[in-house]
Amino acid sequence: VSAVMAMDPVRVLVTGAAGQIGYALVPMVARGAMLGPDQPVILHMLDIPPAAEALEGVKMELIDAAFPLLKGVVATTDVVAACTGVNVAVMVGGFPRKEGMERKDVMSKNVSIYKSQASALEKHAAANCKVLVVANPANTNALILKEFAPSIPEKNITCLTRLDHNRALGQISERLKVHVSDVRNVIIWGNHSSTQYPDVSHATVKTQGGEKPARELVANVEWLQGEFIQTVQQRGAAIIKARKLSSALSAASSACDHIRDWVLGTPEGTWVSMGVYSDGSYNVPAGLIYSFPVTCRDGEWSIVQGLTIDEFSRKKLDATAEELTEEKALAYSCLS
Ligand code: NAD
Ligand code: LMR
Repeated sequence: VSAVMAMDPVRVLVTGAAGQIGYALVPMVARGAMLGPDQPVILHMLDIPPAAEALEGVKMELIDAAFPLLKGVVATTDVVAACTGVNVAVMVGGFPRKEGMERKDVMSKNVSIYKSQASALEKHAAANCKVLVVANPANTNALILKEFAPSIPEKNITCLTRLDHNRALGQISERLKVHVSDVRNVIIWGNHSSTQYPDVSHATVKTQGGEKPARELVANVEWLQGEFIQTVQQRGAAIIKARKLSSALSAASSACDHIRDWVLGTPEGTWVSMGVYSDGSYNVPAGLIYSFPVTCRDGEWSIVQGLTIDEFSRKKLDATAEELTEEKALAYSCLS
């Protein structure tokens, strides 16, 4: 007789589930990439009426794939049914930007969605539901969701900058021709936008001679302070240009990384980047959803404290904070 207790299924909401990221994300969740290989899940998929038929198609495919961990599928255009009892909410629903647009250009459409879905989550999600906002402008949508769902603890509302974090790891790994898993502790500061600051000041690379600072191995400050930063900042736009669609498989995979580390913990000595509610750490204005380096334990994130910030970094941290302050004002003007 097996001594292993059956685990209760976790209910995972994916909004915008008939869209591109949704289509990449739901099979990952059903395979255990988000919550672990032993954790059963029930998927709640929300989309809007024009996408209802496509959403049914996704549901059919999920059934056809016969995922052992998938214990149920709710596919609906009813926001209350979608939110009821969910333990994890991945908010992907919204309008993606097209070539030539900045992410904040989709602001007015998307913030009003996040205001209305905030109330549904607040009323119907499970207590302690963890929320990840993916739809752009991700930080500001998350802030609006937080402000219009005052009873959800602010530590439970986050946005996705893990994709930018993973992009930064990828660029260092390509440059040094090392495995991406040997690079760690890059940081994405600030907004998921072209003002974000990908910072390698504290990043390290595992080598045969031990762990070395990435800066020392790259040994090219000009590249690190120029092309590297711009490549990561502009990667979303580069993908839109190439695919004529925004990133989807990498966004879905990074969303799984974000929730997995948040729920199951970050590895010892490793931090990741998450957009979280600022408490004023590193002199970032409190009250913004800002990307910080965090470690996670027992289902809670904490901002890594005490890192030295040089003058170059300081300016970049402040510039992206300033953009977020402006976006916040713009979001409120769209809602009024
Ligand atoms: P998509 O257009 O393919 O899919 C979005 C889906 O959302 C569509 O099916 C649409 O019908 C649905 N939708 C629209 N309004 C909705 C509502 N009120 N409730 C529920 N669903 C709704 O777009 P996509 O490529 O999947 O991208 C989704 C979002 O994610 C975009 O805003 C995009 O810019 C953003 N994005 C963020 C990151 C990140 O790293 N944070 C990365 C990639 C994309
Ligand atoms: C990305 O970073 O790939 C997404 O935010 C899509 C975009 O608009 O850049």
